Amino acid sequence: MDWGLQNRLSRIIKPNDGKAVMLAVDHGYFLGPTESLEQPRKTIQPLLKYCDSLMLTRGVLRTSVDARFPVPVVLRVSGGSSIIGEDLSNEKITTSVKDAIRLNVSALAMSIFVGAKNEHNTLVSLGHLVNEAEEYGIPVLAVTAVGKELAKRDARYLSLSCRIAAEFGAHMVKTYYCDNFEKVVDSCPVPVIIAGGPKLEERAALELAYNAVNAGAAGVDMGRNIWQSKYPVPMIRAVRAIVHGNVNVKEAYDLFNRLCKESPSKNDKPKSETSQPKNQSKNKKQKKK
Ligand code: 5RP
Repeated sequence: MDWGLQNRLSRIIKPNDGKAVMLAVDHGYFLGPTESLEQPRKTIQPLLKYCDSLMLTRGVLRTSVDARFPVPVVLRVSGGSSIIGEDLSNEKITTSVKDAIRLNVSALAMSIFVGAKNEHNTLVSLGHLVNEAEEYGIPVLAVTAVGKELAKRDARYLSLSCRIAAEFGAHMVKTYYCDNFEKVVDSCPVPVIIAGGPKLEERAALELAYNAVNAGAAGVDMGRNIWQSKYPVPMIRAVRAIVHGNVNVKEAYDLFNRLCKESPSKNDKPKSETSQPKNQSKNKKQKKK
């Protein structure tokens, strides 16, 4: 593997344990202002120091992330359909490799839709993206997206998708957790990372992360199960403890509960908005006089 590509990859999958905690905040590219991601900067900022890398689009990167913060970026470069459109699988490459280099990203990400109407187009796009990205030593993450019409999340379907992505040259694959997940990991020659999927109760989400890592996943690229939690910071720290700290589900959930007591919930108003400024109460007294 070329030095640059290996170096970028190791910013995402940490070489000391071969694991990754990616924070996914790219949902707006087809969902619009997703719940709890309405103001991306507000959602992302408190979580930044707890993730190894951030997965997002160039629009949110440029508008909502401080360029001076040294977080490795996995840039989503595909899109073209929305949740209210006809066919979610109708995606193309929407961001150039040149712009990705300008943004100093560590990897590129795009979705493939195996078994869907645009299977062919998305797979050929993956091949082209790998060709171009490799010229500059940039790894590619293939997201095995499941369109509206493809509710299938079983090991047979997901291992088919992951394996095809790896055959096309993807350096990492992101997919969903499922029963017999070992089958998905074992038949995919590149690291497999799991998405969190729709919001679950926190313990169940931690169990999902634990089971995936135990079955051989290289980590998580989690979004909604972190920032849709009432306690996003405790949640990402508990997920991190599973991925990098080898803790079990009980230990991670205990940590989550302990951290919840110390951290404000995301619905709490900052102190400055709730407590009265000192001289305001003085003024009131003065007015009464
Ligand atoms: C959509 C994506 C998302 O990043 C992915 O679904 C991860 O987020 P979540 O954990 O919320 O499922 O790639 O195609």
